[in-house]
Amino acid sequence: MAMSAKTIGRLVSRRSTLLPGFIRTERTPFTSPRMSSSSAAAAAAMPKEDSVSAAKSNYKIVADVGDFDKTQSERPKFDYSNKPIEVTQSPNPNWEYGQGVPDNGASASKKHHEIDPYDPDRPMVSNYQLLVSGIAPRPVGFLSTVSGSGDDGKTTKNLSPFSYFQVIDHDPPMFIVGFSSRPERVKDTFRNLKETGEVVINTVSENMIEAVNATSIDAPYGVSEWEVSGLHEAPTTTVKPSRVQESVFSIEGKVVDIKEFEDHVKPGMSIASLVLIKATRFWVQEDAVNTELSHIDLNKLRPLGQLGGISYGRVTSTFEQPRRRWKEEHPKSEVLSRLEDSKRETE
Ligand SMILES: Cc1cc2nc3c(=O)[nH]c(=O)nc-3n(C[C@H](O)[C@H](O)[C@H](O)COP(=O)(O)O)c2cc1C
Repeated sequence: MAMSAKTIGRLVSRRSTLLPGFIRTERTPFTSPRMSSSSAAAAAAMPKEDSVSAAKSNYKIVADVGDFDKTQSERPKFDYSNKPIEVTQSPNPNWEYGQGVPDNGASASKKHHEIDPYDPDRPMVSNYQLLVSGIAPRPVGFLSTVSGSGDDGKTTKNLSPFSYFQVIDHDPPMFIVGFSSRPERVKDTFRNLKETGEVVINTVSENMIEAVNATSIDAPYGVSEWEVSGLHEAPTTTVKPSRVQESVFSIEGKVVDIKEFEDHVKPGMSIASLVLIKATRFWVQEDAVNTELSHIDLNKLRPLGQLGGISYGRVTSTFEQPRRRWKEEHPKSEVLSRLEDSKRETE
């Protein structure tokens, strides 16, 4: 959502009244690691409007995809047959301890480029493209938030997808979401989390992706992404934002910590940040969960993974890998027996 300059000003002045207690930030100098002090000073000295418009013209995260409708129309149709997800053997069922990758050393002999992410000649978008294509698939957390009440007492609802997202523990159930910097203003979702400390994290199934993607549009401030997407609001009990009715799994949560990367602010760009969220409620679609409410059926969840560029991947095939115990395994393996013996010798 876009915000007017007036709203931004109001938010900046509201900073000091944000939720107390959960905001932790690093107080370090206003330069990126490789930015020389003179270029940083020159950039910082630029009038704000100039640095914002320079940042806008350098911002290449939302790529121009040409005639995407044409590209799409030339591809095979999505297989909507909902065939059960097949379960195969693992890639190397006869793998043995110490074997590494069983490909006759082919992977182990590959060469690698070393990259300094802070090289002054490396465009930021190259790091973005490298990271999203290399750290894949990523689950998409679909976040529903509500703004704090403005001067007129009104609140605004927000719905947006984030794939710098992960569950990071189950006891307590905790989640992390990363918010990227962009020209001028922080993401509305981040602003809402900072103002209210409340969220619903919703899962994204295959059949939802067009609607979910639509909510990532840079809609003008005040436009409801619920309406843009046509998704339905469902009630929650421990937080104010609604959950997404169409999601198989939704998690109500409260913010427990916020980290803003103050050492990395660039002229004209908003601050990058991450938010730690602790769950307060789970909601799971009745026909997708077992009677103990402890396992969600993958054939019902039909999760998507975000890949590089504008690609997504489906789960169409899985395999299993049991976690093993040292006590039972070391007597069966020469490598583990040797390691067990050498451990005894050093004790
Ligand atoms: C699938 C998907 C994943 C995304 N992941 C992120 C992310 O992890 N972090 C981020 O800052 N933006 C991410 N975006 C972009 C935001 O959704 C987009 O900037 C959105 O407009 C933010 O909305 P807001 O300002 O209303 O919060 C993603 C977009 C899509 C479509």
